[in-house]
Amino acid sequence: MKKIDVLVIGSGVAGLTLAIKFAERHPDKKIVVLTKTNKEESNTRYAQGGVAAVWDFETDSFDKHIADTLDAGDGLCDEEAVNIVVKEGPTRVKELIEWGTRFDKDTTAYDLGREGGHSENRVLHYKDLTGWEIQRALNEKAKTYPNLAYFDHYFAIDLITQHHLGRQVTRLSPGVQCFGAYVLNTRNKEIETFIAKVTVVATGGAGQVYKTTTNPSIATGDGMAMAYRAMARMENMEFVQFHPTSLFNPAIENPAFLVSEAVRGFGAIIKTPEGKEFMQKYDPRKSLAPRDIVARAIDNEMKMKGQDFMALDCTHLDKEAFIAHFPTIYNKCKSLGIDVMKDLVPVVPAAHYICGGIKTDKVGRSSVQNLYACGECSCTGLHGANRLASNSLLEGLVFAERAAEDIGKRIDSIEFQENIPKWDATGTTDPKELVLITQSIKELKEIMSSYVGIVRTSVRMSRAFDRLHLLYEETEKIYSTTTISPQLCELRNLITIAYLITKSAAMRKESRGLHYTTDYLKKHPFLEMTLM
Ligand code: FAD
Ligand code: SIN
Repeated sequence: MKKIDVLVIGSGVAGLTLAIKFAERHPDKKIVVLTKTNKEESNTRYAQGGVAAVWDFETDSFDKHIADTLDAGDGLCDEEAVNIVVKEGPTRVKELIEWGTRFDKDTTAYDLGREGGHSENRVLHYKDLTGWEIQRALNEKAKTYPNLAYFDHYFAIDLITQHHLGRQVTRLSPGVQCFGAYVLNTRNKEIETFIAKVTVVATGGAGQVYKTTTNPSIATGDGMAMAYRAMARMENMEFVQFHPTSLFNPAIENPAFLVSEAVRGFGAIIKTPEGKEFMQKYDPRKSLAPRDIVARAIDNEMKMKGQDFMALDCTHLDKEAFIAHFPTIYNKCKSLGIDVMKDLVPVVPAAHYICGGIKTDKVGRSSVQNLYACGECSCTGLHGANRLASNSLLEGLVFAERAAEDIGKRIDSIEFQENIPKWDATGTTDPKELVLITQSIKELKEIMSSYVGIVRTSVRMSRAFDRLHLLYEETEKIYSTTTISPQLCELRNLITIAYLITKSAAMRKESRGLHYTTDYLKKHPFLEMTLM
């Protein structure tokens, strides 16, 4: 049994920033950061475009960034959260720079990129490897605190609540509390108990619930599923963002390689594989319309013509400048025989980001006492029905600071819960048929991609429910008799996420932002046609 003041589950931008901030302010307190594989692996690491922040006050303003965020969010953003993130964002980004993060400069000033839905250039970036650079800098910084310990290859299984002390807890029970987490050490397969005064879920997204996703294999929604089981309130789970331009690769890669929206910000144009522009049919902003619109347009064109991909035309762009800005994208395409300067780049939409998650207040508290959520797994209200590009890293930074501050104020008034039982594994044995788990994961992805994807209908969602229910029952049976493994936990968590997405989608009787259902068509000011 390990006893720590603050247990942070997740070492991406949100978890690490929070841990660093808390460690800095409270050298007498012990913080542990858990990560389920290597400490470098996270969604954060793959971020390409950059961090959006108002930087050049001569051309840009907080009001403009706020307006763009609200516009993308399609009427569902929490305006207070938007104000907080936009106004506190630049200070947080400056801190990142002080901690050693490099952003590209154009001679002396920072080179500010542009992405879909932004009315100004305001995206700070490090080539097309911004997330990798931020993750590197945070890992380096975290190492400098003796009171901050890293446990990699530690997979959190479940949050500990009164339920584990033998008390029946339901979603309506008042005063549900979190006392820490049960965690699988995947190196020696032991399940350890981490008791904590405060637990922070910073486990990132859940893109792996879909067949094609830009998210790495760790993005299985573990934290959201654990919090849901711990009776935390969830919100906006129906709003799954599909990135319009992942690289089409017939060999099917998991994760799908992203072709950053910044490439369109740089001048690239979306076209059919035959080289014809079509975005003017869908939005006056064409290739730089917000992501939900562009992804739906590409999906629709593919379905109408029975094609496997659409294309991105970069052939008119300056080669030297392109390679300087996007070396990873250039080289990746080259490795597949695509010369970005001569050929159209084949692209398809891919599940990219979940706007919903564990509902939090403005300091990261969830509805469960002493349980915080931060980063992509949380729902702060910033994104509403659709996230504005490059607002995610910013949200992680801003709310990490706020949560660290709030935890600091409360930590001395919180007692450890000492009498936590050990994980009970009686009646379980090693899995005899791993194929049952891997096949169920495949089925789950198929169900979600076919029936609860970019375009939805009530009939498709109802079919998804039936199929998910079967998978749920089969998996619970396996779970009750089988030794815990990351694969089994991930399957179980993915089923929970799929259920939450489908249930929230079925409950929303309208088309809004990323949730588009042909049963409730929105009168779009521009678009006359019904999408397929
Ligand atoms: P993550 O960075 O995903 O970190 C999650 C952590 O939780 C990991 O350390 C993981 O190991 C750990 N974890 C998960 N489950 C468990 C468990 N059961 N037990 C223990 N540990 C666990 N956003 C932008 O703002 N700008 C961009 O340019 C941008 N580009 C993107 C490009 C790609 C390809 C992708 C996939 C995303 C991009 N995003 C971008 C989104 C952004 O990167 C993420 O939303 C953000 O990094 C999430 O950070 P996080 O700290 O919440 O989670
Ligand atoms: C991208 O670079 O296109 C991704 C940006 C984001 O997801 O915010």
